[in-house]
Amino acid sequence: MKNIIFIAPPAAGKGTQSSLIEEKYNLPHISTGDILREVSKEDSEIGSYLRETLSSGSLVKDEIMYDLIENRLSKEDCNNGYILDGFPRNVEQAKKYDEILKRLNQELGYVIVLEIDEKILEKRITGRRICEKCGAVYNLNAASQQPKIESTCDQCGGRLQQRNDDNVESFKNRYQQYVEKTEPLLDYYKQQGVLYVVNGNGTVDEVQQQIINILEKRGGNI
Ligand code: AP5
Ligand code: MG
Repeated sequence: MKNIIFIAPPAAGKGTQSSLIEEKYNLPHISTGDILREVSKEDSEIGSYLRETLSSGSLVKDEIMYDLIENRLSKEDCNNGYILDGFPRNVEQAKKYDEILKRLNQELGYVIVLEIDEKILEKRITGRRICEKCGAVYNLNAASQQPKIESTCDQCGGRLQQRNDDNVESFKNRYQQYVEKTEPLLDYYKQQGVLYVVNGNGTVDEVQQQIINILEKRGGNI
């Protein structure tokens, strides 16, 4: 299986779709947001920098991302392909990623963008709940994504909590960062003929089917 990169605005479904693809094709799901949220719990200078940056919705400094990504992609579980959720996030990171791929003798693979209406995103942001124990993701505003018992994870019984950047103010900044810094990446990858566009407005299953069609070669390269 080739590597997969998901690019999409905040709360568009990158994590949800990556987890489904991880399960179906047995590929590691590497979410830079999840990794950074873990490091942000540390009682250290970097921990404190990350807590502040993540809650504001701004991007973390590029230099911090490079070592983190190269170390993770060097692990053995990435040898047969992996899913990148949240990296690269700007053209600078994409250029650095090209160098990392060369060093690791890996290929770019698929770049999949989830296109979605901005109106839908705010609903997904405010409704998202995450299990503090196992990380399973729910949404109170989507019938198929709600937990069976209020505030409780279906899978492990853990308590559901809200991410501290899941508020309207931080969302506005995250969305603006996406438009200004991440969207230019689409041209970068389009020119290389590796960009695939998926309509992210549908249900989780509808979006997943489009992705499977691409990975199983029934989609079109734009
Ligand atoms: P990150 O964690 O990547 O946040 P994000 O890009 O804002 O994306 P989200 O995780 O919020 O959304 P998602 O697309 O994964 O959606 P999900 O599947 O959960 O990054 C966080 C921060 O880390 C950044 O702001 C930045 O500071 C830093 N960072 C990370 N990478 C970086 C980098 N490379 N460089 C610099 N800084 C970096 O879905 C959302 C909700 O909707 C869920 O509740 C889900 O259940 C629901 N849902 C999903 N799909 C559907 C559907 N089809 N229908 C209905 N509901 C759905
Ligand atoms: Mg995510």
